[in-house]
Amino acid sequence: MNLAEFIDARREKHLTELKEFLRIPSVSAKSEHKPDVERAAKWVADNLRAAGFKSAEIIPTAMHPLVYAESLEAPGKPTILFYGHYDVQPAEPLDLWTSPAFEPEARNGNLYGRGTADDKGQVHIHLKALQALHESNGKFGINIKVLIEGEEEVGSVSLWDFVQKNKEKLKADALVVSDTSMLGKGVPSITYGLRGLNYYQIELTGPERDLHSGVYGGAVPNPLTVLAELFAKLHDNNFHITVPGFYEKVAKLSKAERKALNALPWNKKAFQTAVGAPGYCGEKGFSIVEQLWTRPTLELNGIWGGYIGEGAKTVIPSKAYAKFSTRLVPNQDPRKIAVQVEKHIRKLLPKTVKCKFEVLSTGKPWAAPFQAPIFKKAQTALEKGFGKKAVFIREGGSIPFVTQMYDTFKVPCVLIGFGLPDENAHAPDEHIYLENYFSGIKAIAHFYADLAIL
Ligand code: BES
Ligand code: MN
Ligand code: MN
Repeated sequence: MNLAEFIDARREKHLTELKEFLRIPSVSAKSEHKPDVERAAKWVADNLRAAGFKSAEIIPTAMHPLVYAESLEAPGKPTILFYGHYDVQPAEPLDLWTSPAFEPEARNGNLYGRGTADDKGQVHIHLKALQALHESNGKFGINIKVLIEGEEEVGSVSLWDFVQKNKEKLKADALVVSDTSMLGKGVPSITYGLRGLNYYQIELTGPERDLHSGVYGGAVPNPLTVLAELFAKLHDNNFHITVPGFYEKVAKLSKAERKALNALPWNKKAFQTAVGAPGYCGEKGFSIVEQLWTRPTLELNGIWGGYIGEGAKTVIPSKAYAKFSTRLVPNQDPRKIAVQVEKHIRKLLPKTVKCKFEVLSTGKPWAAPFQAPIFKKAQTALEKGFGKKAVFIREGGSIPFVTQMYDTFKVPCVLIGFGLPDENAHAPDEHIYLENYFSGIKAIAHFYADLAIL
C-alpha cells in the first residue's frame, strides 16, 4: 500500500478524531475556558505520542501552555520545526451558527465548527501525516520538532519569551506552518508574505460624569461625537491613511512581483460573494490583491460608550472608547508606527476631551524570498496531494511567530495553507472544505517523506 492509499483508508478515523479535538472549547481569550485550553494542550500532547513521538511536553507559561515534541533520530537529514496553534477565537455571536460551534458537523462537503480551519483542522493535517509516515515506515525519516501554542489568537504573548530562551531547542533548517489560506478552491498555495499588526485602544473623557443631555446639551463636549470625528479624519477620500510618515518606509513592490501577484488566478466574484457588501472601497492606485496583501491599513474594530440598552436614555456620556488596529507591511516598524499614530491622534483631538492611548500589541510584517529548494519540494508535494500546481501568494493576516522565527534564525518559512478565504475564520459557521483536509494530509505526508530524500 502506498502512502496515499494508507491515508485514504483512514479517512473516517481521521475525521472522528478531528471532531474530538474540535469539541474542546479552547478559547484563549476567556479565562472561564482556561481548563478547556489545558485539556486541548493535553489532547495535542497525547495525539503527538499516538503519532509516533516518544514523548511530548506540556510547557506551562504565564498564560496558556505550549506543547512541544521532537524526534531527532535521522542523522544527516534536515530538521523541520512545525508550528501551529490549538487555541481558537471566541464563538460569539452564538445564535448565528447553523450548528453549535463546539459540536462539529459535516454538511455539504464541509466540516463546520470553531477551529476547523483556524487552526485545529490544519494542525491535525500534520499530526496525521506524521503518523502515517511513522506507521508505514517505522520512523519519520527526518528530524522533526513540533511546537503547538495556545495563545496565537491573543497575540502569542508568552511565545516570544520562550523563543528567546530556547533558541537551541527550536533551531531548525526550516519552519513549516499551516495556518493560512489557499488562493481559492483547487488552487494549492504557498504564502511568502504576511502583514504585521499593531492593536490599539483609546479612551476619551469629556465631562467628569454622565450628564442629562437636556440640562447640559449644547454647552458641553460629547466624547462620542469627538470620537466619530476623529476616526472620520484618519482616512482621506482616496482611502489613504492621514497619519504623517505612515507610508514612509513602505517597500515599493518590484515590477516583477506586482506582475506576478496580479497574474494569479484570483477571483473577484468569489471575493465579493465572500464579503457580501453593497459596494467596495480601497486605497486608490492599487488592485484589490495589492490592497489586501501589500498595503498597510488602519481599521476601526470596535467603538462603544453612552447608552446602548433598550429604549431611549437622554445622556451625554462621560467616556467614549475605541479599539482599532493597523496592518503593516515591509519595511514598516511597528514601534515607530505606534508613536506616529498616537502623535497624530493627539494632534487631531480637540482640547475638550482627555485621551488615554494604549498599544495592546505590536507585530512585524513578513515577506521573504522563496528560492530555497524546500519550496520546490513543497510545491511538488502539493501537486501530489491536489493534482494541481501550487502558486506563491502573500496574505493580509498576521502570524507573529513566523516573523519572530524568521528574524531569529533567518531560515526558510514554508507556509502551506489549507483554509479557504471564505471559510469564516473568526466568524460564525467557520468550516473547512473536507477535500482540502483529506488532500492536505496526503500532501504533507509526501512533503515530509520527500524531505527525507536528500
Ligand atoms: N491564522 C490566522 C492568520 C491568517 C489568517 C494568516 C488568514 C493568513 C490568512 C491567525 O490565527 C490570526 O487570526 N491572526 C491574527 C493576529 C493575532 C495577533 C491575533 C490576525 O491576523 O488578526
Ligand atoms: Mn490561525
Ligand atoms: Mn485566527
